[in-house]
Amino acid sequence: MAQSTPSADVAAMMADLAASVRRPPGAYLAAARQTLQHLLSRPELLDPSRLVGRSEGLTRNLLFGTEAISVWAMVWAPSAVTPVHDHHCSCCFGLLRGTLRETWYRPISDTHAVATQDVVREPGFVACMMPTGPNLHRIANDGPEAAVSIHVYGYDHRAQESSIHRTYEIAAG
Ligand SMILES: [Fe+2]
Repeated sequence: MAQSTPSADVAAMMADLAASVRRPPGAYLAAARQTLQHLLSRPELLDPSRLVGRSEGLTRNLLFGTEAISVWAMVWAPSAVTPVHDHHCSCCFGLLRGTLRETWYRPISDTHAVATQDVVREPGFVACMMPTGPNLHRIANDGPEAAVSIHVYGYDHRAQESSIHRTYEIAAG
């Protein structure tokens, strides 16, 4: 019997997830969460060369992409930080290694937002959100080591630059 290879396993998993985009939003998010949890529990399935980043900033390595979803390994060097942003599409992510600080915000206009919650995420953490719900946040690596997270977005990476809808300035709370 042919032995399946890790990359074939991942490819099959991603194809299943891409097909689930047509399901109702709750079912799709559950499938994305399950896929991320599986990848986080079996990181050997991922190509280690895709989990390496530059020594500064945020490196995005594409793992899989269709017209419906794109899956990325994000490598966060120490001090890497996103702008405060929301998303135009579904956004699911799981933390593979390192720690990341996720700060949530409440918009007070189209350009400014105030912080509402600040949490340090540990390996194994998975979050899923839709643009119809709260999805305004900033992610930062303020730890001493690089962090690696896996992201599943509901956009075509060939048609759009990123999942970001708008960026915001931080207003005093
Ligand atoms: Fe985000």
